[in-house]
Amino acid sequence: MARKSLIAGNWKMNGTRQSASDLIAALKVLNWETQVLEVAVFPPFHLLSLALAAVSPALIAVGAQDVSAQKPGAFTGEVAAEFLVDVGCQYALVGHSERRQYHREDDALVAAKLRRLLEVGLKPVVCVGELLAEREQGQTFDVVARQLSGALGGLNAEQMGNVALAYEPVWAIGTGKVASPAQAQEVHAFIRQCLMQQWNKSVADGLQVLYGGSVNAANAKDLLAQKDIDGALVGGASLKAQEFAGIIAAGMAVATAGVRV
Ligand code: 13P
Repeated sequence: MARKSLIAGNWKMNGTRQSASDLIAALKVLNWETQVLEVAVFPPFHLLSLALAAVSPALIAVGAQDVSAQKPGAFTGEVAAEFLVDVGCQYALVGHSERRQYHREDDALVAAKLRRLLEVGLKPVVCVGELLAEREQGQTFDVVARQLSGALGGLNAEQMGNVALAYEPVWAIGTGKVASPAQAQEVHAFIRQCLMQQWNKSVADGLQVLYGGSVNAANAKDLLAQKDIDGALVGGASLKAQEFAGIIAAGMAVATAGVRV
């Protein structure tokens, strides 16, 4: 079965109640076919309830940008997976490079967070990707393979069916320096090969792998047309209604054309 595309907006640490309401109102008037394309937004924690009240869940999914590795208890400032379920989230990001870089999250912590999400029935979107220096030293595949097995190692095939991945080369995030479709496709194909080796063909074929890093309305179509790219995790452009609408339109164009290169 063909993998459904997912266009996801990671708002990062941006947004007020007003800007979030405006953005969601602008998304709700767009048209896309939910059978072939899913749209999700990942607002900061303080806007999750507002976003969830504003969307129709069948049309726009809502996810959190992070989750605690702990169960509810005396962990000041943390947000437990249970709370995300309580507000109605469907997804959460784990292992975003900004968390790895600025909050020193390592693969073990990413793995613990991911397991908490699976325990409560939320779908994790696990982010992986290399630094510029690592790419320049030819280490891209090694880094991605290490992050994948660090986060996902030990999960069974059934659990893997509830996971999505995002390949986000760190050098492409917020830089305007998007990976070329061929560069992205090469890593996506490698990821699928890793999934095949560590699990099986049905996991490798079924799992959504999104691309993230400077995706905008102009470059989305060529990226999304790649065989192993199943959607986009969009940062900056997801805060601009028109840009995000353009990315959704590109996703629809590729999905309905039914062929990926
Ligand atoms: P930009 O789209 O702003 O490059 O950010 C990508 C990203 O980090 C999404 O998670």
